[in-house]
Amino acid sequence: MELNVQILRQAPDAAPYSQTFRLDISPGATVLDCLNQIKWSQDGTLAFRKNCRNTICGSCGMRINGRAALACQNSVANELKRSLQPQTITIAPLGNLPVVRDLIVDMQPFWQNLDDVNPYVSTAARSLGEGEFRQTPGQRAKLNEMGNCIMCGACYSDCNGKEVNPEFVGPHALAKAYRMLADNRDQATDQRLEEYNSTAGVWGCTRCFNCNTVCPMDVAPLDQISKIKGEILTQAQGLPAPRPIRHRQVLVDLVKRGGWVDERKFGLEVVGNKFRDLRGLLSLLPLGWRMVQRGKFPMSFEKSAGQAQVQGLIESVQSLEKSQAHQGVRSHE
Ligand code: SF4
Ligand code: SF4
Ligand code: FES
Repeated sequence: MELNVQILRQAPDAAPYSQTFRLDISPGATVLDCLNQIKWSQDGTLAFRKNCRNTICGSCGMRINGRAALACQNSVANELKRSLQPQTITIAPLGNLPVVRDLIVDMQPFWQNLDDVNPYVSTAARSLGEGEFRQTPGQRAKLNEMGNCIMCGACYSDCNGKEVNPEFVGPHALAKAYRMLADNRDQATDQRLEEYNSTAGVWGCTRCFNCNTVCPMDVAPLDQISKIKGEILTQAQGLPAPRPIRHRQVLVDLVKRGGWVDERKFGLEVVGNKFRDLRGLLSLLPLGWRMVQRGKFPMSFEKSAGQAQVQGLIESVQSLEKSQAHQGVRSHE
């Protein structure tokens, strides 16, 4: 069949440009087959990474028809079903990473972010006495999902949190972080939870779901991030938590109490930390005063009609989250 392959190309220190190649290729061929055919018969300067050709090595990550994917995993026929242009597949380099040339990106920030979460079983476990540190099949099975990661960079490429916050370590790193928390040999749970409890860590995630959608290995990074958040929130009960945690706790608490948010209390409890943070409280005064002047400060609050049902739902979810968090991370039996 006839196919157009439109590739976003870029030489070092030059502006990107689009180039279209025409191919005669079978619908069952992969996108990587298309790139090979272009390189071998039309333009030997086209640069892209590949190795295993079998969804193992993670080298051939790129943006195909607008989303990150592995070139060796996706067929021409399937890509044409997703394409917005007839008989055309568009290819671009991974996002959120600097382009070196054509479809090759510099993976250094990706590896650095992985290193930032300390992705090694803690040394306390490694310094145990002689002999193997055995795990039961059940203990090992808890690591399977995250252990499937092939470090292809697809999740990192399409991560909205990374795009708006360069400090955010990204989904691949946090999936690995949860792998460490779930490993019964690791002895650094408290230290890890403290490190991941920041906007560079789990609170940098905007829950856009892209990482779960594009991951070719079903690692489900967002699910792993949510488990870390659950553990942090379980630990933070009753403590003067940092603002991102307070924001979530107060929101849930107010909706539980009133069926919807009591805006008079929201700022006081999140920013003012229930009168513990005087600077935070003072920072609210100009806004509060402007709201009063314009008649936008709610003087009273009425619970919503379905408050009792809302409260029941929230309590059910909270008790489920609590039991899951205890069974998950803490069951290092
Ligand atoms: S869900 Fe979170 S980690 Fe995953 S891609 Fe979106 S912002 Fe990034
Ligand atoms: S989590 Fe999935 S998408 Fe992200 S690097 Fe690992 S295999 Fe690739
Ligand atoms: S070439 Fe190895 S995953 Fe595609």
